[in-house]
Amino acid sequence: MTAYQNFIEQIQSSIQAEDFIKLSLGDYNGVEPELKNIYVKPVLIKRVFKLSFTYRYKTRDITKNFMVDEAIEQITAVLHERGFRVGTLFTAKENAICQWNKKKLWTLKSEQPTATKVDSLSHDHQKERKIGSTSKKYLAELRLTDAEGKVFKNAQDKWRQINHYIEILSSMLKELASEKVLNVVDMGAGKGYLTFALYDYLNNELQKPASVVGVEYREDLVSLCNTIAEKCDFNKLSFVQGTIEDFNPIQKPNVLIALHACDTATDDAIYKGITNETDLIVVAPCCHKQVRRQLEKVKTVNDLDFMTQYGIFLERHAEMLTDGIRALILEYYGYQTKVLQFIADAHTPKNVLIVGVKKKINEKRQQEILAKLQATKAYFGIEYHHLERLCGL
Ligand SMILES: C[S@@+](CC[C@H](N)C(=O)[O-])C[C@H]1O[C@@H](n2cnc3c(N)ncnc32)[C@H](O)[C@@H]1O
Repeated sequence: MTAYQNFIEQIQSSIQAEDFIKLSLGDYNGVEPELKNIYVKPVLIKRVFKLSFTYRYKTRDITKNFMVDEAIEQITAVLHERGFRVGTLFTAKENAICQWNKKKLWTLKSEQPTATKVDSLSHDHQKERKIGSTSKKYLAELRLTDAEGKVFKNAQDKWRQINHYIEILSSMLKELASEKVLNVVDMGAGKGYLTFALYDYLNNELQKPASVVGVEYREDLVSLCNTIAEKCDFNKLSFVQGTIEDFNPIQKPNVLIALHACDTATDDAIYKGITNETDLIVVAPCCHKQVRRQLEKVKTVNDLDFMTQYGIFLERHAEMLTDGIRALILEYYGYQTKVLQFIADAHTPKNVLIVGVKKKINEKRQQEILAKLQATKAYFGIEYHHLERLCGL
């Protein structure tokens, strides 16, 4: 039995004896570009014991979880092929180091233990994040983490929000991503937190090739984001300076997102999605001034005055009416539409997500929708909705 086979046996027995703390594989000599290490640790996922592999690349990490047998197969394969030429097993009793030496032989040695066992594998209650924070250069560049990937205290909320948003989008994206290469456009990208995270998630976590374009009118943010994208070798991520209204995509986007694009900028974004027949449109609207201004004018003259006389109700009323009409217009264009709560109210009041998935619609249903739109405007006393005007309905 060679030294590396002994090493594999040691790994198996340490797992059986519940003594396994972690494993690292280094000195990579394989063909995968920019792969540097694999780190393996035990995790409990929905109460099932697994081994979590973090594949550390130059500018990103990919995490995959395996059952023990699969994990052992993976480790055996990479050592057998000498993709990795050093493996270190950390247990409570020792560090076992298996190494391919200059004489082209595997050696195995034991050293004093350096790692301590954690009492519980707390992963059941520690939220599994869609994107890990370690070794993600863009997160450090965006000042969300330090160089080691530790999320800054003041960035915790943003970090949770990014992951939550990716979590919501992931199932919708997986369906689309299996069909085609994705062209994603993020309207009103701001500082690009979510744009970067989405690019990383699609290309690196899901391994689905995707081009992502962020549209933003603040030149300073566009320039910052393009610099970071370049530094991280995110070759298919770019940011374009300009308005959503004037943006003309080179390639038709099949996914369009607009998160917290102010007031009618959300309508401009939806309109771009509709006219480009985008498969998936996801918007989180913010400040509903255009409809609110019209409601202000009629607040004391219609039957709803008992509510709309109060500022907070007028505000909520404007939100629901604006977004309800957006959903209706999306439906008119054949989008199967859902409205979801995006994040808990405590984090931000801008918490509604409108999701449209392109399907088909017949003319009869379209006529019903147009009638509903006219009746709704008359009932609430509003003259027009910005999206309705853009669409020429
Ligand atoms: C509140 S921030 C949201 C940023 C990002 N989407 C997020 O959720 O973190 C809105 C961004 O949209 C940009 N924006 C608003 N209206 C726009 C328009 N019509 N065209 C381009 N960018 C716009 C603003 O400059 C701002 O950076």
